[in-house]
Amino acid sequence: MATEVFLIQFLLISSLIGTCCRNIGWGNFSFNNVNNGFIPQKFSYQIPHAGFGQGAKIGICYGRNADDLPTPDKVVQLVQLHSIKYVRIYDSNIDVIKAFANTGVELMIGVPNSDLLPLSQYQSNVDTWLKNSILPYYPATMITYISVGTEVTESPVNVTSLVVPAMINVHNALKKVGLHKRIKVSSTHSLGILSRSFPPSAGAFNSSYAYFLKPMLEFLVENQSPFMVDIYPYYAYRDSNKNVSLDYALLSPQASDVIDPNTGLVYTNMLDAQIDSIFYALMALSFKTLKVMVTETGWPSKGAISETAATSDNAQTYNTNLIRHVINDTGTPAKPGEEIDTYIFSLFNENRKPGIASERNWGLFYPDQTSIYSLDWSGRGNVDISTGANITSSNGTWCVASANASETDLQNALNWACGPGNVDCSAIQPSQPCYQPDTTASHASYAFNMYFQMNGANDVACTFGGIGVKSTKDPSKLKSVE
Ligand SMILES: *[C@@H]1O[C@H](CO)[C@@H](O)[C@H](O)[C@H]1NC(C)=O
Ligand SMILES: *[C@@H]1O[C@H](CO)[C@@H](O)[C@H](O)[C@H]1NC(C)=O
Ligand SMILES: *[C@@H]1O[C@H](CO)[C@@H](O)[C@H](O)[C@H]1NC(C)=O
Ligand SMILES: *[C@@H]1O[C@H](CO)[C@@H](O)[C@H](O)[C@H]1NC(C)=O
Ligand SMILES: *[C@@H]1O[C@H](CO)[C@@H](O)[C@H](O)[C@H]1NC(C)=O
Ligand SMILES: *[C@@H]1O[C@H](CO)[C@@H](O)[C@H](O)[C@H]1NC(C)=O
Ligand SMILES: *[C@@H]1O[C@H](CO)[C@@H](O)[C@H](O)[C@H]1NC(C)=O
Ligand SMILES: *[C@@H]1O[C@H](CO)[C@@H](O)[C@H](O)[C@H]1NC(C)=O
Repeated sequence: MATEVFLIQFLLISSLIGTCCRNIGWGNFSFNNVNNGFIPQKFSYQIPHAGFGQGAKIGICYGRNADDLPTPDKVVQLVQLHSIKYVRIYDSNIDVIKAFANTGVELMIGVPNSDLLPLSQYQSNVDTWLKNSILPYYPATMITYISVGTEVTESPVNVTSLVVPAMINVHNALKKVGLHKRIKVSSTHSLGILSRSFPPSAGAFNSSYAYFLKPMLEFLVENQSPFMVDIYPYYAYRDSNKNVSLDYALLSPQASDVIDPNTGLVYTNMLDAQIDSIFYALMALSFKTLKVMVTETGWPSKGAISETAATSDNAQTYNTNLIRHVINDTGTPAKPGEEIDTYIFSLFNENRKPGIASERNWGLFYPDQTSIYSLDWSGRGNVDISTGANITSSNGTWCVASANASETDLQNALNWACGPGNVDCSAIQPSQPCYQPDTTASHASYAFNMYFQMNGANDVACTFGGIGVKSTKDPSKLKSVE
């Protein structure tokens, strides 16, 4: 079984030559894979957690409002290639749900606003939907959340009064089949649900939504579901008449601090400020314990002429900083250390989205599955992900393959490193910079060292079942064609 998984991963990588397979670690990554059955016995060492905790989850939104996207099967391959573990979809499309079967990917599915009416009206409608659209594919497809309704306060048709009854019906249907603890029910919101978001401590829900929001919050507390919110510093920046600095919006370390005058808390980025405005709004209503989940955030790589900040450089900066911020469990000034699970919007550019040009350019990938910009999914940033070339250790130590390891052991370890190990092996594919010399040992050395560096040059990250060897000679000098 395990070998099959490796084989698939490796074939995938081989079949995607020319595209990039980066050193991706999605939330609960690499070292956590150690325990989940993907690794042959001999690799089941424990990587210490020093310096990198469990980390909040980073997922991705898979919107499909486009006419040129790959088939769901192809999308699943792409998602797996990048070791993405958490995916949000906006409906319960059966082909998509089926495609994620037996992948280990956790799926958040959605009930579109247009389905709220039937699902809020009759329990039997929900029971039938669950029976036909979910249960046949569960648990092969690991559905963990159902978001009932999408930003209902933004809906052109007023569906706000339907959302809580629909959530209750969905919860009841899950309860009947004993899944209400495994599949959490919630609903996503836009920041427009607040009447005030600045300063964060003054965050308050718009009281004209109290009639549905109060019962919703009570429902969430009772069922230990998170409050889901879509948060876009991009819009705050674009629409702020430039009194928000770009660095602040991009989560850049060099941004000037913004101090909340009420609390004295120091904000170094707008995302935290916006999340805290939600925390404070919840606290104002005495919902102090609800978890907040960011169900969408991102940055467009292209926009209309007026959208000068919509560039692929900015998108890359935002999402890179975001991943680091999230998996570090930095939390926010009001909730330091809080794990805030976050989904990046979006997997693909979606050509059928209406509105201003940026709307169609939120993707990380073009429909042909090539990436729009490179992204350091590992959130560690000690490897040059655009070329995969900087394998210089920070303290002059490298990890290479033992000279007398067998071909089979080398190949297995290489497959593991490039698959579950999350190493970006694009540079050792044919015609790529580190392909020569084309030997398993050389490729393994490259992959071992990448893994070693990604994991803080920790001794134990150079084990590879006994065939990893630390070295003080720079292996890239020997094999990388500059
Ligand atoms: C990460 O993986 C570990 C080990 O497999 C598991 O115990 C833990 O619950 C996971 N954490 C998350 C946030 O998924
Ligand atoms: C939407 O419907 C609810 C309940 O029917 C009503 O209270 C609310 O005022 C409506 N909102 C808008 C913006 O029309
Ligand atoms: C509160 O929501 C109502 C209904 O959508 C809207 O008309 C009003 O402008 C909002 N108030 C604020 C301060 O955003
Ligand atoms: C932007 O400037 C205006 C006018 O000075 C101010 O009222 C507003 O609060 C500022 N917004 C932010 C986010 O700083
Ligand atoms: C990671 O967290 C620590 C403490 O929690 C914080 O000092 C550091 O700035 C964080 N790093 C990033 C990139 O957010
Ligand atoms: C490679 O990484 C080292 C250590 O992090 C750094 O000092 C060096 O500048 C990097 N080299 C390149 C070419 O990026
Ligand atoms: C490799 O061979 C050398 C010399 O033949 C030996 O000393 C060393 O222990 C071997 N290493 C492994 C990992 O077998
Ligand atoms: C640095 O190098 C030494 C060997 O010289 C090694 O034992 C250690 O694990 C390396 N990494 C760190 C993070 O110190």
